[in-house]
Amino acid sequence: MPRDVFPPLLLLLFLSVFGASHACLLDPASAYRFTGAVCRLTYPAAVVLNEKTTKVIEAAFQHARYPSVKGEKSLLFIGTVIYGLDNLEIHNLSIGRSAFELHPGEGIALEIGNVSAVFRGTIQYGYGNWLVNIAHSIDFEIESQIDLGINPKLYCRDGKVAADTSDCYLHFHKLHLHLQGDKEPNWLRKVFTDFITFTVKLAIKGQICKEINKVANILADFIQDTAGQFLSYGGISVDIGVTAAPVINANYIESYHKGLTNYNNASAVINDSVFHPRQLTENRMLYFWISDQVLNPMFTAAHQDSRLQLNISGAELTELFKTNLSSAMPAFIRECLLESASPQLRVWSSSVPHLNTSISGTTVWGTASGELDCGTQGTPVLFFKTDVAIDITASYADKKLSLQGHPSEVFVLQAELSSQNQTVQLLDEDHEEFIREAVEKIGIPKVLSALEIELTRLLDKQGANLFDIVNPEVLPQDGFVLIQMDFGFPHHLLTQFLMKTLQ
Ligand SMILES: *[C@@H]1O[C@H](CO)[C@@H](O)[C@H](O)[C@H]1NC(C)=O
Ligand SMILES: *[C@@H]1O[C@H](CO)[C@@H](O)[C@H](O)[C@H]1NC(C)=O
Ligand SMILES: *[C@@H]1O[C@H](CO)[C@@H](O)[C@H](O)[C@H]1NC(C)=O
Ligand SMILES: *[C@@H]1O[C@H](CO)[C@@H](O)[C@H](O)[C@H]1NC(C)=O
Ligand SMILES: *[C@@H]1O[C@H](CO)[C@@H](O)[C@H](O)[C@H]1NC(C)=O
Ligand SMILES: *[C@@H]1O[C@H](CO)[C@@H](O)[C@H](O)[C@H]1NC(C)=O
Ligand SMILES: *[C@@H]1O[C@H](CO)[C@@H](O)[C@H](O)[C@H]1NC(C)=O
Ligand SMILES: *[C@@H]1O[C@H](CO)[C@@H](O)[C@H](O)[C@H]1NC(C)=O
Repeated sequence: MPRDVFPPLLLLLFLSVFGASHACLLDPASAYRFTGAVCRLTYPAAVVLNEKTTKVIEAAFQHARYPSVKGEKSLLFIGTVIYGLDNLEIHNLSIGRSAFELHPGEGIALEIGNVSAVFRGTIQYGYGNWLVNIAHSIDFEIESQIDLGINPKLYCRDGKVAADTSDCYLHFHKLHLHLQGDKEPNWLRKVFTDFITFTVKLAIKGQICKEINKVANILADFIQDTAGQFLSYGGISVDIGVTAAPVINANYIESYHKGLTNYNNASAVINDSVFHPRQLTENRMLYFWISDQVLNPMFTAAHQDSRLQLNISGAELTELFKTNLSSAMPAFIRECLLESASPQLRVWSSSVPHLNTSISGTTVWGTASGELDCGTQGTPVLFFKTDVAIDITASYADKKLSLQGHPSEVFVLQAELSSQNQTVQLLDEDHEEFIREAVEKIGIPKVLSALEIELTRLLDKQGANLFDIVNPEVLPQDGFVLIQMDFGFPHHLLTQFLMKTLQ
């Protein structure tokens, strides 16, 4: 008995979450050190996905275009009967059950049992000898019950995960022909029954298997294109091509991706990745393994592309500074916030940030600069520059990404006031202490909350909010982050795909 149920087509959806490009390497073990990101989908996830298999199979049946078929047969006394089968349509399709097995090292075996369907069409026929020539047309209906088996092989094509579904077979349990009306002679009925039983089997088998292959490719492209768009941000893009063919064992399917950031014609290099499959377990449905070597170049590019900056002004700024600090607020800042018409605080990253993940979290080091401009003629502009180190952990709940940040170091490198008349005045220790405390207690939480919003927005753009994600965990480890979750398959996502691509 098959262990349960599976859809190679929908599986692609997950394998391709990390998209496309270039050629595949080697066998997985030697490709590990070039692997920046990994996606593991386990057996329980496949069970959930399989529940949707029938929808894809239904679409494959409904959208198959059945070709017209022609044939001829010589009969004693009657002569040659010429016949053609046209306008084959499918009605009342229903699918009994579907089941799958993961075959280690080979692929997936998928069985769709008890597909019942009614095919309708028209038979044209003509017969006769040199004396008589008669041409007729008759409508027919075929009741059928079919088992469908597919053994898709996952492989790596042009750097993408692709499915070869050419190992596809149909087994007919039942094939009953009904001719409309009863005026046809019995011998003719016999001829058509044999003929149609044979030809219809061939025609349907060929078309259904072809359509399944097509749907698999459309789905793969659809997903990989979407993923590609998600992973480019301005001039920054990430090469998520695979480094090796996916691995299938009895408990999971795993795909290996490069995760190389491209920016300004420069590409990151990963050639000493710490990835090993034993870093992932098998009890959750879906795992993403992401290396610091993927995240660091992304941050570097974001910094170089001036993405790491934030402007706060007006009431929002005044509100922020209501936070209780233990050091006294310098008079010029109070005046700036309370008395000027349009105070503006600009903060930006002023050196390439660097991150390092360990069991306790991800530590980010960087230099943050800020400028407080009161927007009023004659008032001085405050400039400061600080070194910061923040320990960050992430979580995802209620469709929102949250970052919990704990500053481990804030050090003021520079703090000065510059006036209209070009003079620059360095701040004293008390003022520096206020700035240090403000950066720690106001600045860092504000920046993290802005980052949370931006990252949630990026995830939503990819459709993360459409998924029914259950108990996701973000686990920092030595040199990488492991994201693991269970999920319910979003039916509307499938519907949307089918409507968009198969209409
Ligand atoms: C499809 O099913 C409906 C309801 O069961 C039935 O009325 C209809 O005749 C069926 N159509 C065909 C083509 O068998
Ligand atoms: C197939 O469907 C028919 C009728 O819908 C049912 O009687 C039969 O038990 C089913 N067979 C299997 C193997 O599911
Ligand atoms: C990237 O390289 C191309 C061709 O070498 C050049 O035309 C283009 O200006 C470069 N782009 C950047 C952002 O450096
Ligand atoms: C890894 O890549 C870097 C940068 O291209 C190179 O200097 C280094 O030799 C490479 N290491 C290995 C083991 O290939
Ligand atoms: C912040 O303000 C500065 C100058 O007022 C402007 O050049 C910059 O583009 C702004 N940045 C953002 C992210 O809005
Ligand atoms: C700030 O501190 C003052 C006195 O220490 C206290 O009265 C006030 O409630 C505090 N405000 C907030 C928002 O914590
Ligand atoms: C420059 O302006 C500041 C305050 O705006 C003032 O204290 C200082 O004396 C001025 N210096 C000169 C050289 O005018
Ligand atoms: C980075 O984290 C690793 C553990 O993953 C640790 O061994 C290493 O010392 C850390 N590096 C720095 C600079 O903190």
